[in-house]
Amino acid sequence: MSVTVYVPCDSAAVSVGADDVAEAIARTAQLRSIANVRIVRNGSRGMFWLEPLVEVTTPSGRIAYGPVTERDVAGLFDAGFLEGGAHQLRLGPTEDIPYLKNQERLTFARVGITDPLSLADYEQHGGWRGLGAALAMQGADIVEQVTASGLRGRGGAAFPAGIKWRTVAQTAADQKYVVCNADEGDSGTFSDRMIMEGDPFVLIEGMAIAALAVGATAGYIYIRSEYPDAERTLRAAIAAARTAGFLGPSILGSGKAFELDVRRGAGAYICGEETAMLDSLEGKRGMVRPKPPLPAIAGLFGKPTAINNVITLASVPILLDKGARFYADYGMGRSRGTLPFQLAGNVKHGGLVEKAFGLTLRELLYDFGGGSATGRPIRAVQVGGPLGQYLPASKFDAPLDYEAFAAAGGMVGHGGVVAFDDTVDMAAMARYAMEFCAIESCGKCTPCRIGSVRGVEVIDKLRRGERRPQNLTLLRDLCETMTHGSLCAMGGLTPGPVISAVDHFPEDFGLPRPKPLDGSDRTARRDARRGE
Ligand SMILES: Cc1cc2nc3c(=O)[nH]c(=O)nc-3n(C[C@H](O)[C@H](O)[C@H](O)COP(=O)(O)O)c2cc1C
Ligand code: SF4
Repeated sequence: MSVTVYVPCDSAAVSVGADDVAEAIARTAQLRSIANVRIVRNGSRGMFWLEPLVEVTTPSGRIAYGPVTERDVAGLFDAGFLEGGAHQLRLGPTEDIPYLKNQERLTFARVGITDPLSLADYEQHGGWRGLGAALAMQGADIVEQVTASGLRGRGGAAFPAGIKWRTVAQTAADQKYVVCNADEGDSGTFSDRMIMEGDPFVLIEGMAIAALAVGATAGYIYIRSEYPDAERTLRAAIAAARTAGFLGPSILGSGKAFELDVRRGAGAYICGEETAMLDSLEGKRGMVRPKPPLPAIAGLFGKPTAINNVITLASVPILLDKGARFYADYGMGRSRGTLPFQLAGNVKHGGLVEKAFGLTLRELLYDFGGGSATGRPIRAVQVGGPLGQYLPASKFDAPLDYEAFAAAGGMVGHGGVVAFDDTVDMAAMARYAMEFCAIESCGKCTPCRIGSVRGVEVIDKLRRGERRPQNLTLLRDLCETMTHGSLCAMGGLTPGPVISAVDHFPEDFGLPRPKPLDGSDRTARRDARRGE
């Protein structure tokens, strides 16, 4: 009987030596004349501090070892790791590792378990069932299922996927498109990449279902240029799916066509904004287009286009397979289903945590993340990418649900969580946020193009202690103009991290912390508001 050894091919694992480990295992097995070893390059389980995580199939399930280096391999063979033998790197059954066990993996159900490019593996683990269900339905019924599931866009704006699809479906045109936004530009995010490298067929299946729902016959995946491994995997997966009849002129003989291709991104953060992405896809410099018209009505090459994030589309197959109700049973409030959160920055156990909406930041940071990597207190967290607010520890108990988290002053966005310990200089982080906007602005509108440059200057003055009260007023005024006057969320949301840093960490700007209000202050302010 052969033994299967899993060594991830995910680029996070490869970056810490997974390829060398896989080669060392193959070499050692050959040297020791052990013929029955089959090495499978799986996706990552998303526990980055344990990468390269090697798993071995045993009669009692998969046993994990990690983090494994090339130098550990001979010792692992000596310890009988092929039978799950004892070794200091042995972590026990993979599924029992609390970080994994305590997750609710729907979108990531197969990642780390299957060979990403094996169609047989995909099918054995529930693949194509959603597409099968969709092929038996009318487009409008697919849209209805997606709407009923409560699935909202995972790219940041959380717009209901079903409503967007309905608009595309109801717009008459000779050609419609489905475009997958795989630009994944947010800091601290990697869930899109992990899906594309670890389970590319689920994205292809989700896009084919979207095409059936809206009546599109062609689709593109716009992938960031920094993801060469994901791009290679996707291209191979598309070719395999096409050969097997899941894509092409007649999906599984249904007579319905869907052709899919990959386009490499232009390397600019703004090209993740959907209208700039369309310009870039059309071969132009990525510049934001005014809305209306919505891309759902006049998108790629002026045709109705359903644009969705990787995770949105990759979440569709399971809800079509198991039903809208199944998916909607996860989550809280208007945030239904699960979100693959990504833990990064100064955190001990960085990685991917897929959970139903509603868990708190504290649970993510401490129960999963194990606190900071440096062992110092976590002072600030930025959730939702470079446009997300910086939150202090007093906000860590806010539930991660789009509405509840916004009410607490945060933004869930794409679910990226970046932690900072108490050595962080939040005035420097505010400057960084403003400078990021100055560098990445597409330049189309004045509040963002000019405002962000002036914003950096004002923050520098504040940091140097120049006329602090006046410069603080100026900064707030400028941020207000950017918020309300910018054409897109790049300039519109940059004030979020800047002002949250000022409000929550004023001492880092040399500003006094506002005194907590006592009863008389409250009365005075109320009277002032009334003009008394
Ligand atoms: C500056 C900026 C950058 C963005 N970058 C991304 C990105 O990298 N990936 C993404 O999916 N959405 C990104 N978005 C959001 C997209 O404009 C769009 O809302 C999303 O792709 C729609 O898909 P969804 O509804 O499935 O989330 C960005 C938005 C802005 C304003
Ligand atoms: S806000 Fe910035 S990125 Fe957006 S359109 Fe205006 S200049 Fe371009």
